Amino acid sequence: MVEREKLEEIFAANGTTEDKLLGVLLEIQAASGLNYVSQEDAEYTAEKFGMTLSRIYEVISFYSMLSMKQRAKYVIEVCKSSACHVRKRKNLLRMLRDILGIDAGEATEDKVFYIEEVNCFGACDMAPAIKIGNDIFGNLDRKSLTEIINRYWEA
Ligand code: FES
Repeated sequence: MVEREKLEEIFAANGTTEDKLLGVLLEIQAASGLNYVSQEDAEYTAEKFGMTLSRIYEVISFYSMLSMKQRAKYVIEVCKSSACHVRKRKNLLRMLRDILGIDAGEATEDKVFYIEEVNCFGACDMAPAIKIGNDIFGNLDRKSLTEIINRYWEA
């Protein structure tokens, strides 16, 4: 859940017209620290935008980058589309399980990482690939994956 003051800041900076809703929800999600939009924040957003709560939920469920479920500080997106699939996506998930002890749809106990399987994010030429925030990492093997994870862990 995001502090009211921060929410007000987000609404003031973006405006509260329907065309701003996606951007606002993404900012709320980023400010949550756990990459999700809480029910309370969704309710307050609905009030501010003069919309029904079900419309807010509709938008959140339409966009795969938005979530109502608490995730973690970093969401590791693992591509499940064909190019990555052919090029050993399963191995990637296995390596992530070995390094982090979690499967897709789970968060580490310290809430630093959450693994999410997503559709192609355009890095097919360097499959298998993952995405963390705006950063894409490809051609991964156990060594490079471990290095990337450690870098985020230390950040
Ligand atoms: S198929 Fe995996 S990034 Fe495109």
